Amino acid sequence: MLQQPQPRTLLKALIVIVVMSCGLIFGTTWKVEKVQPGFVILQDEQKSEAKYKMKVDKNDATAGWINVGANQMQMVRFQRGRFKYAAEEEEQFMLKSYTCRVEEWNKVHTDHLPHSELHAKWMKTNISRKARVFPESTVYCGRRIGAKYISITKEIDDIPEPPVALRDRVTVIPQHYFTVCLATIYGPEPKFLQIVDFIEHHKLQGATFFHIYLRNSTAYDRMLLDDYVRSGEIELIVLNDQYWRADFMWHMMQINECHMRNVNFAKWTALLDIDERLEMNNGLRVVDYLDSINNPNVVNLHFGVQWVLKDQLSPAKFENDTQFVDNLVFKRYHNTSRVDHWLQPKCIIRPDKIGAMTIHAPLMVYHGFLKTYVNSTIGVVRHYRNVRGGALYKNNERAFDMGPYQLTSINPEMEKKLTKACLSRVKQVYDTVQYSCEEMQKMYAVHLIEHPCIKEPGYLPAQNITNY
Ligand SMILES: *[C@@H]1O[C@H](CO)[C@@H](O)[C@H](O)[C@H]1NC(C)=O
Ligand SMILES: *[C@@H]1O[C@H](CO)[C@@H](O)[C@H](O)[C@H]1NC(C)=O
Ligand SMILES: *[C@@H]1O[C@H](CO)[C@@H](O)[C@H](O)[C@H]1NC(C)=O
Ligand SMILES: *[C@@H]1O[C@H](CO)[C@@H](O)[C@H](O)[C@H]1NC(C)=O
Ligand SMILES: *[C@@H]1O[C@H](CO)[C@@H](O)[C@H](O)[C@H]1NC(C)=O
Ligand SMILES: *[C@@H]1O[C@H](CO)[C@@H](O)[C@H](O)[C@H]1NC(C)=O
Repeated sequence: MLQQPQPRTLLKALIVIVVMSCGLIFGTTWKVEKVQPGFVILQDEQKSEAKYKMKVDKNDATAGWINVGANQMQMVRFQRGRFKYAAEEEEQFMLKSYTCRVEEWNKVHTDHLPHSELHAKWMKTNISRKARVFPESTVYCGRRIGAKYISITKEIDDIPEPPVALRDRVTVIPQHYFTVCLATIYGPEPKFLQIVDFIEHHKLQGATFFHIYLRNSTAYDRMLLDDYVRSGEIELIVLNDQYWRADFMWHMMQINECHMRNVNFAKWTALLDIDERLEMNNGLRVVDYLDSINNPNVVNLHFGVQWVLKDQLSPAKFENDTQFVDNLVFKRYHNTSRVDHWLQPKCIIRPDKIGAMTIHAPLMVYHGFLKTYVNSTIGVVRHYRNVRGGALYKNNERAFDMGPYQLTSINPEMEKKLTKACLSRVKQVYDTVQYSCEEMQKMYAVHLIEHPCIKEPGYLPAQNITNY
């Protein structure tokens, strides 16, 4: 390549010459009488024209020459029928690659954390740590004016990992009333059915946003998650870095990460796993119950847990309405334990009041009660315990301690609404509308090509199972 600069330079010279000569040949000024109906005429035509040295081809009113900047003359083509000309760049776009842009929200420098005395105290007692954060924690950092990306190193001179972009999540008022954090999705059991059930269930309970953590899933399950991202109802946080962890070890980090994400974002946040549902009694929704709480010292609502034994894996794909509905976990599984308030309870927190979280309860709060127990007559966490395994299979050995068992179902009204909501969502994602060969050919014809089914009648399966 280094051997061939000459032909390129020559070509450039040629182009410049062509440009110049075309300019000479076609160089007439743009005449208003050439303007076709519908043209938008500039206010100060003479001035703009002079500024950009615009010339219009006298034989072809759609072609011309213009100074694109720095006296570079380039050929242009005007849009047919309607040509709008800008005399000046809009102010917010008057920038170069090197223009420094700092948004208002990012003009903050902090020297200490909020509640710094408390955090200092917790550091002394090893509840918070100054240096050891890896690999199951999150880090609280100060703010720097104009910082756009952030990364963490152990020592000040270490080479940082690729940094991540900062985003403004701080709003004056919380954007949501009740949100839900869903712990890391991983493991071999197909998940789409549990994902739609989890999200739609808590939407019916009044949740308006979900933070969902993903280690890995099948591409099929991912389609559903991506569809919820598309509709703006969830944020998907994909967990991966170069260090080994067993899948379940992401959980501690996820709990604290999600707690932080919800500070000032939501008034109330539930922290749950994919097999757990906040189930309310007396026809109330979670948000109706939350509305009834007006003591600001209540910063953690502690729900007891009831196991519902799940002895089959959920199906990998949507086949048809009946197959899907029959496999919905709340329809299929009924063998239910007593309520236990001490074994793995789950909670709804006030994120901005919590200092540090563990999986089942806050470790430290800035103020208020560490725990407020929710009477099981009001609501429980219905935990569809996978007795066929799961990551922490030792937990299953406790099944017998959780007795006595009885068959229960969820509220019939809720069951009806939830079935409808789940079915409608999965069909939107997976139940692709089928077309005949003729119908597909109509769409192919627009692109002037032929669908293979025209020449090969056997190309499509006898039944309309999939589009090809
Ligand atoms: C905190 O942890 C350090 C290091 O493990 C230990 O030396 C120290 O005694 C601990 N302090 C308290 C108050 O537990
Ligand atoms: C998740 O990743 C593991 C390890 O790479 C792999 O064995 C497993 O099949 C993946 N699971 C899914 C559902 O893709
Ligand atoms: C629905 O799918 C199931 C499982 O694939 C199948 O056994 C059943 O025949 C299907 N039902 C209908 C009505 O197509
Ligand atoms: C429910 O589960 C318990 C504990 O495994 C078991 O002893 C009982 O037989 C089950 N009941 C039914 C109806 O399956
Ligand atoms: C829960 O509520 C029931 C019915 O109101 C009551 O009898 C029971 O004592 C309450 N339990 C607790 C632990 O507060
Ligand atoms: C396939 O679907 C099309 C459009 O719904 C329909 O016209 C056609 O008869 C179907 N073919 C078969 C074999 O079911």
